[in-house]
Amino acid sequence: MCGIFAYLNYLTPKSRLEVLDLLVTGLKRLEYRGYDSTGVAIDSPDSKNIVMVKRTGKVKVLEDAIKEHFSGGEYSEPVMTHIGIAHTRWATHGVPCERNSHPHRSDEGNGFVVVHNGIITNYNDVKTFLAKRGYEFESDTDTEVFAKLVHHLWKTHPTYSFRELVEQAILQVEGAFAIAVKSKHFPGECVASRRSSPLLVAIKTKSRLATDHIPILYGKDTDSGKPQEIRPHGQTRELPVLPRSDSTSEFMPEEKEVEYFFASDASAVIEHTNRVIYLEDDDVAAVRDGTLSIHRLKKSLDDPHAREITTLKMEIQQIMKGNYDYFMQKEIFEQPDSVVNTMRGRVRFDGNAIVLGGIKDYIPEIKRCRRLMLIGCGTSYHSAVATRQLLEELTELPVIVELASDFLDRNTPIFRDDVCFFISQSGETADTLMALRYCKQRGALIVGITNTVGSSICRESHCGVHINAGPEIGVASTKAYTSQFISLVMFALVMSEDRLSLQQRRLEILQALSNLADQIRKVLKLDSKVQELAKDLYQHKSLLIMGRGYNFATCLEGALKVKELTYMHSEGIMAGELKHGPLALVDDSMPVLMIVLRDPVYVKCMNALQQVTSRKGCPVIICEEGDEETKAFSSRHLEIPRTVDCLQGILTVIPMQLLSYHIAVLRGCDVDCPRNLAKSVTVE
Ligand code: G6P
Repeated sequence: MCGIFAYLNYLTPKSRLEVLDLLVTGLKRLEYRGYDSTGVAIDSPDSKNIVMVKRTGKVKVLEDAIKEHFSGGEYSEPVMTHIGIAHTRWATHGVPCERNSHPHRSDEGNGFVVVHNGIITNYNDVKTFLAKRGYEFESDTDTEVFAKLVHHLWKTHPTYSFRELVEQAILQVEGAFAIAVKSKHFPGECVASRRSSPLLVAIKTKSRLATDHIPILYGKDTDSGKPQEIRPHGQTRELPVLPRSDSTSEFMPEEKEVEYFFASDASAVIEHTNRVIYLEDDDVAAVRDGTLSIHRLKKSLDDPHAREITTLKMEIQQIMKGNYDYFMQKEIFEQPDSVVNTMRGRVRFDGNAIVLGGIKDYIPEIKRCRRLMLIGCGTSYHSAVATRQLLEELTELPVIVELASDFLDRNTPIFRDDVCFFISQSGETADTLMALRYCKQRGALIVGITNTVGSSICRESHCGVHINAGPEIGVASTKAYTSQFISLVMFALVMSEDRLSLQQRRLEILQALSNLADQIRKVLKLDSKVQELAKDLYQHKSLLIMGRGYNFATCLEGALKVKELTYMHSEGIMAGELKHGPLALVDDSMPVLMIVLRDPVYVKCMNALQQVTSRKGCPVIICEEGDEETKAFSSRHLEIPRTVDCLQGILTVIPMQLLSYHIAVLRGCDVDCPRNLAKSVTVE
């Protein structure tokens, strides 16, 4: 989804061309989030105006346009302090085009320019309010109203500081947003804020920072002006005046020279600094005279006094492609390591013990719960489907698996003694986050399973497991899936630690976990065979993927991978349902892939296989190494090593990841950024 990147240098001379270079690189790091247009805003050479360049399409198109636009020598002059803001837009309101691209401006003079991620749901009311006051709109976006609202407040409250203007504007808007604002009326200043969409501030200084936190200021800055609330149809109502801020403490680095970055996620800043502050909802971060302050209008009893400055553990290499052609390919091949990283420090194979530090104190409470609910979207949801059976077996609790969007649509009943797991690679998926808040309000225990330290889901959970798969850049999730899978398996093992009757089963699973990395390496060796298969399949219109039991999740996940990457139709079919409809699709021309492993549902899977072949279907079969009987049903098969039934899904999903990848390459699709999709879906 939309990506924000803003850069401010204070007493650290940089030419505007260098700033533009930084902005473009920042946008490149955010490309993976998904987008369809881009834009930047910097100061004009005389610093009296703001210049914007926007383009539809890739960051590369913007980069070329920038080279053309800013060729004059005046842009090479170093400036001591400057602010540039940049954006990748994923269209929600209005088609992708330059007019709808960000930054959006407040007026023809570019007084205030804004970049935004999220959706302002009451933008029509704000628009009506502003239209009545003479504002004319030039885009179809919700974002533009924000720029114009700030401008309106500036005209009506001339004594407001820049931060106050943005704060007052935020009071008026509803929905989800992360924003960064630049103004020619407040040179050298940048103001940013968030509500439900992610945003962080990164700090770069020459020497180490002397502090690991930054105090939060509460209240209003000045007594000036009465705040108003914009009501439906642009009506207004006066709001009570909030108390004045009682503190003047701000963050000032030891040395004066400092650079700040505002970004939607850490991958955009890691090459500059590893010191970041994750903003919370309704935080307003403002930089003025090189000083950063974090401000909130209201304080409630349990609000903290400070925001922590976090040190990122990420390495720059982790967000580079290395020798691979695509991030997705790299991430598929990283799985022997990422699964080990998920288990590292948690599973002791010698003592057969598992400790999940992030939830260990909650285990007694979880054991007393009424039911476990696993909630997620897309691939994350599939990891819940994949592990449900084992969770039921090892916890002996009812396990409910829910798609976050459907869960919310149904206003699902939730009880205080429910334990709700929220599974999300990004930790920012809007539906999953909304479902989390819904369950939290109803008193359930919230467990986060995320890959992104500092993400909203991570922060808003009572406890959780970091899957530690490392940054995942390809929009189609791969290594996060296998790590989520293992995290949930580890949880099941923890829950059954003191169950005597389950010890043999636990040992079998632990043993299999210890062999998993080697077995994944073996599966990855099928790559060229899978590529050959892809050549058979890539010109077809559809692919049916069938299986059942522990491998049904692989069918769903495999079909999702094929759809999102190749734009081919694909369906994951529960083999038990074959006779209830899907069999009608099968003939000698319909591509079918079947997963048939020697597990408790083998006989049933063979039955399905026979039904398919007797309708002249010629399936590709994923089966166990050396299973001649199953292989005899087709000339096309992929053999995978044997493991315990409940972990087979990890080994069967990898050929599906490779297959979708190769089909996508053969069809000339953009593997890392499939059309219309976003990595981090921060709107509902
Ligand atoms: C998007 C991505 C999927 C991902 C889903 C859930 O749709 O394209 O790959 O599975 O969001 O994302 P999350 O970050 O919550 O796991």
